[in-house]
Amino acid sequence: MSAAHEDTSLEFVASNLDILATILPERLLKPQVGIVCGSGLSTLAASFRERVEVPYSSLKGFGISTVHGHKSALAFGLVGPGDGIPVVAMLGRFHAYEGHSLSTVVYPIRVMARLGVKNVIITNAAGSLDPALPVGTSRLIVSIRDHLALPDLTGFNPLLGPAKPQYPRFLPLSAAYSHSLRRTVFFAAHELGLPPSALGEGTYAWVSGPTYESPAEGRFLRAAGASVVGMSTVPEVLAAREEGIEVCVLSLVTNFVVIPDGYRSVREEVDAELSGRPLPPVPQVEVSHEEVLAIGKEKSEVMRSLVEKMIELIGKN
Ligand code: 6GU
Repeated sequence: MSAAHEDTSLEFVASNLDILATILPERLLKPQVGIVCGSGLSTLAASFRERVEVPYSSLKGFGISTVHGHKSALAFGLVGPGDGIPVVAMLGRFHAYEGHSLSTVVYPIRVMARLGVKNVIITNAAGSLDPALPVGTSRLIVSIRDHLALPDLTGFNPLLGPAKPQYPRFLPLSAAYSHSLRRTVFFAAHELGLPPSALGEGTYAWVSGPTYESPAEGRFLRAAGASVVGMSTVPEVLAAREEGIEVCVLSLVTNFVVIPDGYRSVREEVDAELSGRPLPPVPQVEVSHEEVLAIGKEKSEVMRSLVEKMIELIGKN
């Protein structure tokens, strides 16, 4: 079995509970909701009350997140009115493209499960494959209802490995994205007075990265039914479902995936130039990580208020 499928760190999960018990006050030790903060979204934890940050480096089995714009800590705290609901957030997640094994990528979800987390809200920054999801203004956040994960279908699946008695061997994914939490997203948006155009629903395509999509790959994913594309989230969703955790995924649309309608023929371009009637230049557009981070920061307040309101509503149920 390749290193990507080794599962060496699970034995550390229990000792992390002991470590956390020495750091955290009693009321923070049993978070009900877990949050995974995507690119530029670490501020989701900024308004936790009685916040305690525990660096991954003081825990066992965690990797080191190497992505610019990602922190490396668990943030514990309280959210919502009254006593508040205890929550835990991952500030910084692990991606396969950093060279982490998929068991490292999903490890924090395993820790959350042992802490008693019953619902996770996983956020990410994603590129839009759908012209009906304009970037920046409307349909800013997409509530994910399904995924398309080519890596999972082709042997790069975080759940590969020997059967374990505590987990189902063949995990069904037909209802991986909790219908109840997806309803909560829209009720929360309503309570916040967000315009209908601020929130859409769609299908997330997971690609391993670190390359952004080629035009043909973008067209392929769009034709296959994906609305947005990103390099994270699906491994965590699988592990959370395996652990029996309810999953909600919110994608912040940061940019369009560049999918030209067709290819300009270079033969025609050169012929036109040679005949003295050059064709107008084709505009070049490229996605950049800086752009993704900037939009994430700019729009993270909407995401934060939505996540907070959701936690409040989850706490009422
Ligand atoms: Cl365009 N592609 C991928 N794979 N991930 C992204 C993205 C694009 N924009 C933000 N994250």
